Amino acid sequence: MKKIIIINGPNLNLLGKRQPEVYGNIDFDIFLTSIKTRYNNLDISYFQSNVEGEIINKLHEIGFIYDGIVLNAAAYTHTSVGIGDAVASIKVPVVEVHISNIHSREEFRKHSYISKNAKGVIVGFGLDSYRLALETFL
Ligand code: DQA
Repeated sequence: MKKIIIINGPNLNLLGKRQPEVYGNIDFDIFLTSIKTRYNNLDISYFQSNVEGEIINKLHEIGFIYDGIVLNAAAYTHTSVGIGDAVASIKVPVVEVHISNIHSREEFRKHSYISKNAKGVIVGFGLDSYRLALETFL
């Protein structure tokens, strides 16, 4: 079975409570249970951190052994050369996802340090962005 990890960056632990008009009102844990059931032919694990270095460490840890990474680096997308370099350094393909359409928001959200080295980018479909990313690993 393919091993896929979903990695969420800062503030995404507050999904469901945080700015529901932008990010929706569904708890990520509930969503995760539903996609694990739907994609029971994938071995899906989950990691969330608000700490940049912990995300980099996780990418190093699994970046040569898993089959796929679904990464929403959240605000670090727009600021972190370190996470961008980590994505460039690993072998496992990364699909970058965003819940909101980062291109229709503030100017600073339009730049991503991750996209250049991502296998692909899915933005703006709400939590469905994660599901669409998983589809690419089937
Ligand atoms: C986000 C978009 C980022 O700009 C923002 O900082 C987030 C979430 C998204 O999923 O839409 O925290 O990555």
